Amino acid sequence: AKFTIVDQDTCIACGACGAAAPDIFDYDDEGLAYALLDDNEGIKEVPEIYEEDMEDAYDGCPTDSIKIAEQSFEGDPLKYE
Ligand code: F3S
Repeated sequence: AKFTIVDQDTCIACGACGAAAPDIFDYDDEGLAYALLDDNEGIKEVPEIYEEDMEDAYDGCPTDSIKIAEQSFEGDPLKYE
């Protein structure tokens, strides 16, 4: 299983992730990205059909703000760093 979360402290609202994975990432009023599945808590498994899009978004983020792990982030983007 894969989990994802966006570190909004480093996101620069570049907008690439939502284009790569529109079912997984969206933007708040300030243009900062967040994980749609669980309101950016990183606690819900990403459905397998979206994993490839998610990886593309991960690879394309210029600030490495997208985090992916095999366990829940429990709301903390830096949990595994
Ligand atoms: Fe932010 Fe990276 Fe997406 S900078 S808008 S998390 S591609």
